[in-house]
Amino acid sequence: MNIIIYGTQYGSARTYAKELAKRTGFDVVEYTDVADINDYETIVYIGSLYAGGVQGMKKTFSKLADPTGKTIVIATVGLADPTVAEYTDHIKDGMRKQLPEDIFDAASIFHLRGAIDYSKLGLKHKTMMALLYRKCKSIPENEQTADVKALIETYNKQVDFIDFTTLDPIIEAVQ
Ligand SMILES: Cc1cc2nc3c(=O)[nH]c(=O)nc-3n(C[C@H](O)[C@H](O)[C@H](O)COP(=O)(O)O)c2cc1C
Repeated sequence: MNIIIYGTQYGSARTYAKELAKRTGFDVVEYTDVADINDYETIVYIGSLYAGGVQGMKKTFSKLADPTGKTIVIATVGLADPTVAEYTDHIKDGMRKQLPEDIFDAASIFHLRGAIDYSKLGLKHKTMMALLYRKCKSIPENEQTADVKALIETYNKQVDFIDFTTLDPIIEAVQ
């Protein structure tokens, strides 16, 4: 059995997960609704990034007893440009800390670009972003990393970088 699991706050990860389900024929479910992750041979996890954490990922994979023989694909959804290696290296370092070692080693990892609409953010996220923006602005321009630049450029705006063609390598990985 194959499954696509997603973790989202505002819907970008769900949008990617549903499109991937359409293209692969796999079932799709939010991470809070997975009955038993051990039932699946192919597990695709799509989770959005919140301060380096992948929404729901740690909780979901802590329940997977043994990744041996399984196909595990994890895709993050974030604002920064995933073609910048320095940014994706940073995400992977964070993921390594959030996952059991055998699962991290077994997983094929991808990075997708999401969306944000500041007018729809909850108070907690709005406050977090305001603090983060202030911190980012204080970094000299030549020292700003890709994620810092992306945050500054998109601050207080509505942006949508969702691109379904970036699902193609994931489809290849599960076929
Ligand atoms: C409080 C907060 C923290 C965020 N942290 C990150 C981050 O660490 N890296 C990143 O690339 N994007 C970050 N983002 C952007 C989200 O990952 C992006 O908007 C994503 O598309 C949201 O996915 P969702 O709609 O599925 O919740 C953050 C957004 C908010 C509101």
